[in-house]
Amino acid sequence: MSAQKMPAKILVLHGPNLNMLGTREPDVYGHETLDDVNAAIQARAEELGVGVACRQSNSEGELVTWIQGARGQAAAIIINAGAYTHTSIAIADALRAAELPIYEVHLSNIYRRESFRHHSHISGLAEAVICGLGPDGYLYALTTAAKAAKAVAA
Ligand code: DQA
Repeated sequence: MSAQKMPAKILVLHGPNLNMLGTREPDVYGHETLDDVNAAIQARAEELGVGVACRQSNSEGELVTWIQGARGQAAAIIINAGAYTHTSIAIADALRAAELPIYEVHLSNIYRRESFRHHSHISGLAEAVICGLGPDGYLYALTTAAKAAKAVAA
């Protein structure tokens, strides 16, 4: 299989505390675990015919390293940076340097919550921001990212 015919690979990054999904504030984040969410992402990727890699870290530096590694390798990055969304210049700089389409996802509607969640360092870099749709947000982002990646590859 030539490089051009390889299925596009989309990187899905989950930031801090998202490993606690299912037990963490279920009234805000729902009852699905991160494994449930990743299984749904994987299933949708198979339907769409794209490759996907899902990773979670509580460490800002590890997320930066993964974003750096995606440059020239992944077709797009879907990221829920958790609280780092609101604080991390380092993650925003890495996303800018990756020169890839970025899709920002939040499970909750961050604009209906505390004011410190209303600012995102990522939104200005993103093709789209999806928040408040729970885990479906990842699936919408994946569908759009896959369509865009296929259009570029065609
Ligand atoms: C979140 C929203 C953030 O404000 C929060 O810190 C999270 C999760 C969400 O998915 O709704 O950890 O990104």
